Order: sequence, then C-alpha cells, then structure tokens
Amino acid sequence: MGREHAEDTAGWAAHDLGRVIVSADEVAARVRDLGSQITRDYQDHPPLLVCVLKGAINFMSDLMRAIELPVEVDFMAVSSYGAATKTSGVVRIVKDLDVDLADRDVLIIEDVVDSGLTLNYLRQYLGARSPRSLEVCALLLKQGEQRVEQDLKYVGFSIPSDFVVGYGLDVNERYRNLDAIYTFVGQP
Ligand code: IMP
Ligand code: MG
Repeated sequence: MGREHAEDTAGWAAHDLGRVIVSADEVAARVRDLGSQITRDYQDHPPLLVCVLKGAINFMSDLMRAIELPVEVDFMAVSSYGAATKTSGVVRIVKDLDVDLADRDVLIIEDVVDSGLTLNYLRQYLGARSPRSLEVCALLLKQGEQRVEQDLKYVGFSIPSDFVVGYGLDVNERYRNLDAIYTFVGQP
C-alpha cells in the first residue's frame, strides 16, 4: 500500500490528512482487476450495477468502465452517519432506484463496509424485490469492525479501522475529489 504522506496532495487538504492508505495507482490497478473478474463472472448475464451514493461515485465511475459487458447502472442514496464519523445504525433511504429488480443480477457497488449495518439493511431492502442474484462489490473493508457478518463477493482492499477520506469518501461532504485514500486526522 502507498506510503506517501499527505504533503504530496493538494495544499487545501493536506492539513487534515494523515497517511495514504491506498494510492491512486493502487486504486486504479485494483479496479482493473475487479473489472476483469466481474467481466468473467457475469459473462452470460450482465449485471445491473447499483451505486450507493454518494461515497461510491468515484469507484462506480471507474469500475463500470473496467467491465467489458453491457452493464446497466442505477443509483440509490442512503444516509446513516449524519455529520459524525460513527454509524448511528439507523439507515434512511434518501433516493430509491428507478428500475425494477425482478429477475435482474444485481451488484451493489459500495465504498466502504465498516459496521456492516448499512449493507445489511440494503441487502434486505433490495433482496425483497426478487432479484435473480444479489451480490456486493465493496472498495474497502474495515478490518475487525463488522457488527453484521458480511458475504462480500468482491472486495478492493482490507484496511485498518481508521476513518478515511478521498476517492468518493467524505467527512462532512469534503475530500471526495481526492484521487487517493487517506486517513483523516482533522476535527470532524
Ligand atoms: P457501516 O454501516 O458502519 O458499514 O458504514 C457504511 C457507510 O458509512 C459507508 O457507506 C460510508 O458512507 C460511511 N463510512 C464508514 N466508514 C467511513 C470512513 O472511514 N470514511 C468515510 N465514510 C465512511
Ligand atoms: Mg458517507
């Protein structure tokens, strides 16, 4: 994993960032791998990619272009954190899907699995709409933090349980536009 310090990134952000957890190059390489894997696994039944907004936007945007199949995409927005950095355990649907899931092969695209509560809720919520299959592709999995056991078909990186930002991940809506993933060391 990357070893650069936040000094290497934009000055506007450097003050609140700690070390690089995953560099931009590492993200790009792993996204290509995941794209190839998904292309193989879904050869005969292209998936509907469901992006969990907002944190998964960067990942979704890169991953969909690394999949060589006629995928479809849709978006949903959930909120569980408010402004804090630990989950409340209560998930609110802010934007629901536009498409019908019946008989679709659904692949949930998620930024990070921390407690697993958000994903657990989403799985039940989407699973109730009779998809043919329902799997998860998570960019990040926080080690040792899961309160709900997860069966994740694809994981980009297992990371320490620090709060991280960048590549879609935010604190108070900021830092999503960084290319790498960093620990956040500022005040939330
Ligand atoms: P969980 O429900 O505890 O698994 O939390 C999942 C959601 O919380 C993710 O989809 C993120 O939006 C957010 N989250 C969890 N950890 C982090 C982090 O380190 N940085 C930014 N967002 C996070
Ligand atoms: Mg978030």
